[in-house]
Amino acid sequence: MSVPIIETKNLTYNYLLSSNFKNTAIKNINVKIYPEDIVAIIGCTGSGKSSFIQHLNGLLKPSYGKVFFNGEDIWSNNFNIKNLRFKVGVVFQYPEHQLFEDTISKDIAFGPKNMGLCKEEIRKRVEVAANFVGLNKKILNESPFDVSGGEKRKAAIAGIIAMDPDVIVLDEPTTGLDPLSRDMLLFDIFNYHKKRRNTVIFTSHNMEEVAQIANKVLVLHHGNAIMFGKTIDIFSKANKLTEIGLSIPEITNVIMELKSIGYKSLPDCVLTVNEATKSILNLFNLLNLKQ
Ligand SMILES: Nc1ncnc2c1ncn2[C@@H]1O[C@H](COP(=O)(O)OP(=O)(O)O)[C@@H](O)[C@H]1O
Ligand SMILES: [Mg+2]
Repeated sequence: MSVPIIETKNLTYNYLLSSNFKNTAIKNINVKIYPEDIVAIIGCTGSGKSSFIQHLNGLLKPSYGKVFFNGEDIWSNNFNIKNLRFKVGVVFQYPEHQLFEDTISKDIAFGPKNMGLCKEEIRKRVEVAANFVGLNKKILNESPFDVSGGEKRKAAIAGIIAMDPDVIVLDEPTTGLDPLSRDMLLFDIFNYHKKRRNTVIFTSHNMEEVAQIANKVLVLHHGNAIMFGKTIDIFSKANKLTEIGLSIPEITNVIMELKSIGYKSLPDCVLTVNEATKSILNLFNLLNLKQ
């Protein structure tokens, strides 16, 4: 198997609250993420999702444990951590934390500029990235502080896309977007991933979107990684998820309920409406054949 693009070993982080108090936000997390993965991180508020994510490009330094990028310890002396920020692009949960220029266009250009790209390449990248998130040209000259929450989020995402990183990390990217923008953004991220074959890591409270695009899911609970595996295997464990206050996609639930009341030929777990439709039609065909 190939080398994980990101690996954490016993990753632990304590926020120091005062000289006597600390809050352990994440504890002993061991995960291996491969180049073509789309990993969703789920967990209740305060479970450690954002703290975990901020370790992936070195924004937070582990209190204990290690983070590896392509097999290299990112905190070893000879590792270039500044360069890592171009390769692992993190979009924060609160976009206003990463917007600070006087126009949106300058904000999107910030990363490419720091990468030392030429003017023409920067201009191209800003255009492509703005297009990608669906920001129209007019808005590019406005201040990021004068636009809506959804547009701020799009600007923050565009700033990361413009760096064309190997790993895109998005902390609750669809929060604050209307359903249509949300679906479009997910569709675009998925298509970009297919084309670019990059790694995507995102956090979400929406199980439908997790089921739609993630191939793996990491479940955090009070800072512990209680499950990490293929999406279908994670959502098969509905009871374990509900125990910790999470849910499974509605459509997964419907098929599980039908199965539990006697339609045994249905699959154990489906993730999308499409798959559910197919399995229900198969069931109809079977029932008709029997009559
Ligand atoms: N800057 C901070 N200082 C102190 N504690 C923090 C800070 N940020 C987060 N925490 C704490 O760390 C834990 C994990 O928080 P966070 O990573 O933000 O979780 P999530 O993103 O899943 O909501 C929580 O107990 C939270 O209160
Ligand atoms: Mg968070």
